[in-house]
Amino acid sequence: MSMETSSRCCKVCVTGGAGFIGSWLVKKLLDKGYTVHATLRNLKDEARGSQYKSVTEAAIAGARNIAVSCIKSGTVKKLIYTASVVSASPLKEDESGYLDFMDETLWTPLNLQFSHANELHNTYTSSKTLAEKELLSFGNNGNGGGLEVVTLACGLVGGEMLLSSTSTLQTVSTLLSQITDNADGYYRLRFLEEINGKIPIIHVDDVCEAHIFCMLNPSVQGRYLCASSFVSSLEMANCYVKNHPEFHVKQEFLDGPKREIKWASTKLLQEGFVYKYDTKMILDDCVKYARRMGYL
Ligand SMILES: NC(=O)c1ccc[n+]([C@@H]2O[C@H](COP(=O)([O-])OP(=O)(O)OC[C@H]3O[C@@H](n4cnc5c(N)ncnc54)[C@H](OP(=O)(O)O)[C@@H]3O)[C@@H](O)[C@H]2O)c1
Repeated sequence: MSMETSSRCCKVCVTGGAGFIGSWLVKKLLDKGYTVHATLRNLKDEARGSQYKSVTEAAIAGARNIAVSCIKSGTVKKLIYTASVVSASPLKEDESGYLDFMDETLWTPLNLQFSHANELHNTYTSSKTLAEKELLSFGNNGNGGGLEVVTLACGLVGGEMLLSSTSTLQTVSTLLSQITDNADGYYRLRFLEEINGKIPIIHVDDVCEAHIFCMLNPSVQGRYLCASSFVSSLEMANCYVKNHPEFHVKQEFLDGPKREIKWASTKLLQEGFVYKYDTKMILDDCVKYARRMGYL
């Protein structure tokens, strides 16, 4: 998301406006009275990205292109990148265990082996981590001249969805994998808990509000972790047991790892941002959405 300002109004461009988070953000911005431009790629352009040797290389080049386009425009003031918290792992580099905190100072080392990761998880992690670093290099005092850059490293996003895209289904299936038989969702949840020590989650409405908050506050620049809950799979399982006894929670989640890792990321809160949704509200909205769509 990038923001252009003039004396009269504030124009916002949402890259990927047809996506899960993008569509929510566009709706929210329009509701608040902003002028919104959204980018949609040409789905028939099968050659897109084919000049790059790898998905990771394409992700870094994509991030760089967006930053360069913002600078070239001469009118874009602020660029906000939806990063992922997979870029910040409390795993120790010697793989001897976890640090006891999670915050913006951590970066996921790209040489670590995760027992629950498949090739897609590894590629996603390296792409998001390197693209985020690339964008931060364009921030103030970097290569970006006066461009203000924010990276919001978001936890797993849940809640009610507007669309039923692949990404939406992946996200919902991950959050509901404790009470369904979705194997892909199960491995994603296990992978997230392995890489982050626990599972950072956030409601899509809070994600969009956080983007807008970052856009409006000039002091917000640089890297921020963004999640309202940092729960173990055991805590998530107990939330389902307590609030949705109609579902069967897999026993292995009730026996899940008990790690003492503190969510020590307070940067966004210190800027004045307030999250509205807790774990129960996020899971309740996922269940509601899944029922509405006939997945549960
Ligand atoms: N969902 C989550 O739980 C979660 C958590 C943390 C971070 N994130 C991050 O949030 C962002 C949005 O995620 P999402 O779940 O909303 O995914 P999504 O539904 O797949 O949406 C991504 C959108 O970005 C567009 N896009 C991808 N690459 C592009 C490029 N090179 N140039 C222009 N547009 C491009 C896609 O367009 P097409 O439709 O043309 O492919 C799509 O509309 C991603 O960067 C993701 O890593 C998501």
